[in-house]
Amino acid sequence: MSLALKPAVVVERSTPMTGAIELVVHHPPSAVAVNPGQFFQLAVAAPQTILRRPYSAAWTDPDSGRIGFIFNVVGAGSGWLAVRHEGHELDLLGPLGRGFDLDGTEPAIIVAGGLGVAVFPGVVRTLVGRGRQVTVLLGARTSAQLLPVDRFPGAEVRKATDDGSAGHRGSVVDLFGSTRGGAVEVFACGPTPMLQALIETARRLDVPLESIQVSLETPMGCGVGTCLGCAVPRPGAGYLLTCLDGPCVHADRIEWNRMTDAFHG
Ligand SMILES: Cc1cc2nc3c(=O)[nH]c(=O)nc-3n(C[C@H](O)[C@H](O)[C@H](O)COP(=O)(O)OP(=O)(O)OC[C@H]3O[C@@H](n4cnc5c(N)ncnc54)[C@H](O)[C@@H]3O)c2cc1C
Ligand code: FES
Repeated sequence: MSLALKPAVVVERSTPMTGAIELVVHHPPSAVAVNPGQFFQLAVAAPQTILRRPYSAAWTDPDSGRIGFIFNVVGAGSGWLAVRHEGHELDLLGPLGRGFDLDGTEPAIIVAGGLGVAVFPGVVRTLVGRGRQVTVLLGARTSAQLLPVDRFPGAEVRKATDDGSAGHRGSVVDLFGSTRGGAVEVFACGPTPMLQALIETARRLDVPLESIQVSLETPMGCGVGTCLGCAVPRPGAGYLLTCLDGPCVHADRIEWNRMTDAFHG
């Protein structure tokens, strides 16, 4: 982890898809240190927000010292971030946690539900750069909420939308069920119920859970292993800490039946 002594500076703000903001910040020491899948704790200065907010690095460019963050507005912290503009400073803590293990050789399938896609541009770029065959399955409520295909050069992209406005009508997990064949490695991020449905489908199709890695978005306090606020149940007994053991973990390390959807009850 590099503690950012000098703040990052916002160099670009855009709307990559409906309901999402992309902030690009300049901070060379952090940009060179990120493994795809790691996250930062971003300090926010909205009223009554004491804790930093965790965000995955969507991508990094070590040469230009830039890092991209893609997010939606759900509350005070993200609302404050959403109105940052070029020239504003951001206090980053990170990179934190464990990124994805990208050292395999099998074809890779990315399963991204909603804003879960935010972690994947840099992951896909790395996998494609290593000569891996990559299929990206993107799911959203409607086509305008899908990250554009050109954010995944070198990968095959397939879409699923709840309203059928692009690609398969239905869930991105259905698409996964109809896509795979042979040995693959799966990388997934999205709401907890989507991940649970993915695990159920994988079990039904005899896809070993060890071949699936998920990026967890468990609510966090400190982000560095001291508050125990990000515990996730392990099979048998005990807990993982998302901030230290994750956020990217192999799916067989989680007791999926005891995972709660912290945000939707
Ligand atoms: C490791 C990690 C990486 C993350 N990366 C991203 C990312 O790249 N892009 C992104 O958009 N978000 C990401 N998140 C989620 C993001 O941290 C939260 O959305 C953010 O902290 C909300 O802060 P807030 O102050 O705006 O909302 P709060 O005031 O904290 O919460 C407002 C409402 O949103 C709900 N909420 C809070 N967090 C989430 C969540 N994760 N999912 C669903 N509902 C939530 C709360 O329950 C509450 O109802 C990540 C989370 C983790 C743990
Ligand atoms: S967020 Fe505090 S221990 Fe993980």
